Amino acid sequence: MSIAVYPGSFDPITCGHLDIIKRSSRMFDEVIVAVLNNSSKRPLFSAVERVRLIEKSIAGLPNCRAMYFDGLLVDFVKQQGASVVIKGLRAISDFEYEFQMALLNKKLNPDIETLFMVTNANYSYISSSIVKEIADLGGNFADLLPSEIYEEVKQKIEKGR
Ligand code: PNS
Repeated sequence: MSIAVYPGSFDPITCGHLDIIKRSSRMFDEVIVAVLNNSSKRPLFSAVERVRLIEKSIAGLPNCRAMYFDGLLVDFVKQQGASVVIKGLRAISDFEYEFQMALLNKKLNPDIETLFMVTNANYSYISSSIVKEIADLGGNFADLLPSEIYEEVKQKIEKGR
């Protein structure tokens, strides 16, 4: 059984993330969307909230599930019996950081492969940070997030204003 892990902060999940999840779900028996800590970011949504927002977004994808892990990505991948990590690349600017992480993860566990998937051109300009900024400044961000989570994200950001 082929299991892939798609890791990220997902603060919150965007249409760009969901596109990668859908495409990965056609390539693997199971895709685990893993909410992990990025030590250089301070998330707006708690880990529990981020997992729930992902679960709502992937409800129609029977071979995908969402989980939170408070540790190293490679440890989570091994624990889940997976061997592939999926990463989405939007632009060259993503590459340097992702390349460094892929090499570090390879050093930590040589059995794990990182697979880079090119983001759909329609979503290549979307990031969770940009969505939060637009929402915070009162702009329209309905097309940037999965429709199932739009209201919840809107309310959270309006409350925090
Ligand atoms: O969506 P992001 O913030 O770009 O995702 C980065 C993330 C969470 C995948 C990365 O920070 C990560 O793997 N964190 C878990 C801890 C870990 O394994 N760190 C070493 C990575 S080389």
